[in-house]
Amino acid sequence: MDLKGRDLLSMRDLTGEEILAVLDLAAELKSKGRYEDDTCRNKTLAMIFQKPSTRTRISFELAIRQLGGHAIYLNTGDMQLGRGETVPDTARVLSRYVDGIMIRTFAQEAVETLARYASVPVINGLTDLEHPCQVLADFLTIRESKGRLSGLKLAWVGDGNNVAHSLMLGCTRVGMHIAVATPPGYEPDKGIVDDALQQARKTGARVELTTDPVAAVKDADVVVTDTWASMGQEDEHDVRAQVFGPYQVNADLVAHARDDYIFMHCLPAHRGEEVTDEIMDGPHSVVWDEAENRLHVQKAILSMIL
Ligand code: CP
Ligand code: NVA
Repeated sequence: MDLKGRDLLSMRDLTGEEILAVLDLAAELKSKGRYEDDTCRNKTLAMIFQKPSTRTRISFELAIRQLGGHAIYLNTGDMQLGRGETVPDTARVLSRYVDGIMIRTFAQEAVETLARYASVPVINGLTDLEHPCQVLADFLTIRESKGRLSGLKLAWVGDGNNVAHSLMLGCTRVGMHIAVATPPGYEPDKGIVDDALQQARKTGARVELTTDPVAAVKDADVVVTDTWASMGQEDEHDVRAQVFGPYQVNADLVAHARDDYIFMHCLPAHRGEEVTDEIMDGPHSVVWDEAENRLHVQKAILSMIL
């Protein structure tokens, strides 16, 4: 499968077959442990961050290093981008120095503009709309636990946010059923829902949108949640904490899932808000595998596209 030179801006950029190819390579690289190869020998990845990060920054930096290359961390506050140099000009300049660019920012349009003007591949490391690298790591984790993706039911409980969007696009591409429970007014983006429904018609996946967390979690193989207030929504924290109360993933809620369900969270978790300690630390939780798998899928992505 040839993904050389391709951007990864959205889960829309990958077919179901390509998603599985990324997972296969990620699993192979994971089985080799910290084995260093030279797939990205002497290649440089620029990593632009306009929002904080623990996992994305560290796992990308290690990923390129373990493939023989290296990363440059760029905080937009320290770049000319932060004081008015345009995204297209930044794209043109970085393309003269580096072999790939990862960016975490607010607007999906900024990532698309960067990719349009960059002559090197661009990877979305989270926008307000999507978080594709997270979802590829989630899929690797699910496949490790369940042995397959197609035909499983994933329940998303909480905000119709970036991670929910990438999961909807991803699940429907690989034939997984997805049920999304959000409070009224916090539903996923309509354009994402339309794309997911269209994909679902091709793959046989089901898409269910509801305001009832119990209906979403019923018989689910995978239960997923995320923060109620994403980066950039800090001012809404208190209002959201009220609205999202009934959407907490706790023992009562997961009692409706399958007996062998797994619990996932992209992290960082807000214990006592979207999830209780009992579930985070319980026997069904795979959140640490999920965090580790960011490294392995990103090694696969970098070695396929750079
Ligand atoms: N899950 C995730 O993207 O974590 P960070 O914000 O720490 O990168
Ligand atoms: N939805 C969260 C994900 C963090 C990794 C956010 O955007 O803040």
